[in-house]
Amino acid sequence: MKAYINPNSPHFFAFNIWDIASAKSIMDAAQIKQKPIILQTSMKAFSLMDLEAMRFFVTTYAKKKAIPVYLHLDHCKKIEMIQEAIATGWDSVMIDASDKLLDENMELTNYVTELAHGKNVLVESEVGQVSGVEDDITVSGTGVARVEDIQKFLKNTNVDMLAVAIGTAHGQYMGIPDLHYDLLQQTGEMTKIPLVIHGGTGLSDDTLRRLFSYQSVKKINISTDVKQAYRLGIERCYKEQEIKEKGFDPLKVTGRIHDSICKMAMEKLSLLEG
Ligand code: 13P
Repeated sequence: MKAYINPNSPHFFAFNIWDIASAKSIMDAAQIKQKPIILQTSMKAFSLMDLEAMRFFVTTYAKKKAIPVYLHLDHCKKIEMIQEAIATGWDSVMIDASDKLLDENMELTNYVTELAHGKNVLVESEVGQVSGVEDDITVSGTGVARVEDIQKFLKNTNVDMLAVAIGTAHGQYMGIPDLHYDLLQQTGEMTKIPLVIHGGTGLSDDTLRRLFSYQSVKKINISTDVKQAYRLGIERCYKEQEIKEKGFDPLKVTGRIHDSICKMAMEKLSLLEG
């Protein structure tokens, strides 16, 4: 089985994308920085995109740019959608049953690993619930997993990567995030499987570096920053007075958006250097 993410793999940033243009912006950053990346699609983005076209674009553009790029389905709560992702050649899928009781979360995870592993697709699950807003999913609460739940989950599933709620949150942080590094350390001592940190937006560079200093942390997710970079690209057009009725050039707008997303991703990927 081609486990692109494993205990010995490099660290990955996983950026949420929603169309070919956003995927290209991130892949251009990856090529400039010479880093492997994960492009991930929320359920909403996945349901709106042409899956075959996206798979084809990512494969061919990654080959042309000679960088490893993987497609991942983020926070999926629907088995049919996971089946579709597996059938269309997504490299990994996340079954997010973190809102269910632990036994049901494990049961669903086992069902998905059974489906996915036969097709060389990796599976991510979540224990504890990461709070905040990610597309159509809103979660409130402490956002910290219980050690005994993590232990039980690891013992009873065959998952390939585990999102452990350590106090990060989706969306913008209201205050300074209180991260439970001790839980990360403990989990890393329990298992060799790659750990995933959700809610990467709003964490300082020092925090992101610190998280990646744990050998077990292999994937940090960034979504809100991608959307904000898109917005900043549009804002720049307004500032430069490029949104005028006369002589309006869509390529100026798409160019600014591309550059803004690419710059943001390059800044994140720089944290993986040296
Ligand atoms: P942010 O939107 O906070 O970057 O979180 C992204 C994420 O964890 C996607 O699963």
